[in-house]
Amino acid sequence: MNPGIMPLPPVATEELPHVGAGLRFLDAPTDYLLELRARHGDTFFVDLFGFPLLFSFSPRGLQSLYALPEEEASFGLATFDMIGFKTPAEVFADVDPAIFREALAPSRLPAQVALIDAVVQMELERWGDAGETDIFDAIRTLEQRVGFALWIAPVAAEEPWWPELKRHFDVLDQATAFVAPQQTLATIASGKAAERAALASIAELLPRILAAHDAGPARGAATVDMLRARFAGADAALAERRVLHNAINLNQGFLSNLYAAIAWMSAEVLLRPEVRARLQDEIAATRAAHGEAFRSSPEALGTMGYAAQVLMESVRVAQRSLTLRKVLRPVGFDAGDGLYTVQPGVYIATMLSVTNTQTPELARFDPAHYNGRELRPELVPGRETVSTFGHGRHACPAQRFSLHMARIVVSRLLERFELSPCFAAMQPSRKQMGGVSRPEDTARVAYRLRNAAH
Ligand code: HEM
Repeated sequence: MNPGIMPLPPVATEELPHVGAGLRFLDAPTDYLLELRARHGDTFFVDLFGFPLLFSFSPRGLQSLYALPEEEASFGLATFDMIGFKTPAEVFADVDPAIFREALAPSRLPAQVALIDAVVQMELERWGDAGETDIFDAIRTLEQRVGFALWIAPVAAEEPWWPELKRHFDVLDQATAFVAPQQTLATIASGKAAERAALASIAELLPRILAAHDAGPARGAATVDMLRARFAGADAALAERRVLHNAINLNQGFLSNLYAAIAWMSAEVLLRPEVRARLQDEIAATRAAHGEAFRSSPEALGTMGYAAQVLMESVRVAQRSLTLRKVLRPVGFDAGDGLYTVQPGVYIATMLSVTNTQTPELARFDPAHYNGRELRPELVPGRETVSTFGHGRHACPAQRFSLHMARIVVSRLLERFELSPCFAAMQPSRKQMGGVSRPEDTARVAYRLRNAAH
C-alpha cells in the first residue's frame, strides 16, 4: 500500500512489518538510520510502529524541511505526538505556545542572568568542599533548581521547596519520551498514573510556594506573576490551572536540551587541557574588562566568543534531535533527488546525529569549527546540513539565553573547583532518540574546592 507519497521513494522494511523497523530504531536510532541511508540513499520511507516517516538527509531536502510552512507541515503537532506519550494531555490543553517567546524576551535577560548566577552559586555551595559526581546528573539538578527560580519564582529555588518540586518533576520528565523511549511503554500501560500523581502533587505545592513568594520582597517580579496577570479572569480555578500548566511546561522545555549541552561542554573542557586553558584565559579577560560581576551582564557574557564556540561544538557532536514535521495538507517536497507530493498524516523527518558528524572533519571535536556561533561554511555542502539550535521559523528562541547560562555555569565550575574527569572519552548514547545526548557511559568527575580568592 502506498503510504501517501508520490512518486514512491525507496521503502525500508524489515521482516516484521511496522514492528521490525520500530524495534531496530528503538534499539539504536542513529545507527539504524545510518544503515538505511547507506542502503537507500538520502531519501527513504520507513514505518515505525505505524508512524509513517519520510526521511530526508540531502542538503536540498534539509533546506526544504526547514522551510515547510506550519499550516502545511506542523512542528507543533509533531512535537505533541512525540511528547504526548508521556505528558498528560490536560497540560497541553492549557499551554499557550507564545509564552516561551515572551518569557525569553531580550528585555528580561539582565534579570535572568543575575538570577541564574545566584542560584548556580547556591547549588555549587551545596556540593561541599570535595566529592565525586556524575556531571550530567549534577548539572541536571542544578538546572532544575535554576528553572524553578526562573519560571516559577526565586523562592522556589530555596529550601524546602526545590527538593520537593524536583521529586515530582523527575516523574513528569518529558525528556524520557525521547531520551529513553523504551520506558514509554510502561507509561502508556499505566495510563500515565505516576505522571498524573506528580501533577497533583505540584498542584498542591504551588499555592504554598506562591504564598511564600507573595510574602517576600520579590513579589510582582517573577514569571508566575506574569502568568497570573495573563490568565486572570472570572473563573479563579481555571486561571490557577492555567498558571500551573504553563509553569510546568516552561520548566520542562527549559530542561529538555540545555542541561545535557552544558554537561557535555563541561566534560569536553575537562577532557581537553588546551580548551580548558583557553577558556580560563577568556574568563580572566572578561573579568578584567567588565569587573567581578561580569556574569550579571549579558553584554559582558556576550563577549565570551570562545565559550560560544565550545558550546556550539559540544551541541553539534551530541545532538540526537529527531526533527519532525507532520503533514496536514498535501505538500510538495523537494528532497534534492526528486519532487515528492506528500499526503496528510506522513511525517517529514530528519535526525541531526546522522548528518552533523558525517565527514571525517565533522567527526572530530574542535571548537575552531565555529566562528562564535557560526559554523565555518566551507565545512558543509549546505547550511542546513549541520544543526545545533535548528534553522528557519522554528529555530530555537533560547539560543542566546542558553549560551549565557552555559558561560555562567562553566565559568563558576572552573573557578570554584579543581576538577578531574574519571573517564577518558565520551560517546553519545546509542539509544537516545531526540535532544542533546547524554554519554553512553557515566561521566563521573572528582572535584575539590580551590583555595584561590574567588
Ligand atoms: C543547548 C540548548 C538547546 C538546544 C540545543 C535547543 C535546540 C532546539 C532545536 C534544534 C529546536 C528546533 C526544533 C525543530 O526544528 O524541530 C528548538 C526549538 C525550540 N526550543 Fe530549544 N534548544 C535549547 C534550549 C532551549 C531552552 C533553554 C528553551 C526554553 C527556555 C528552549 C525552547 C525552545 C522552543 C520553545 C522551541 C520551539 C520554537 C518554535 O516553536 O518555533 N530551547 N530548540
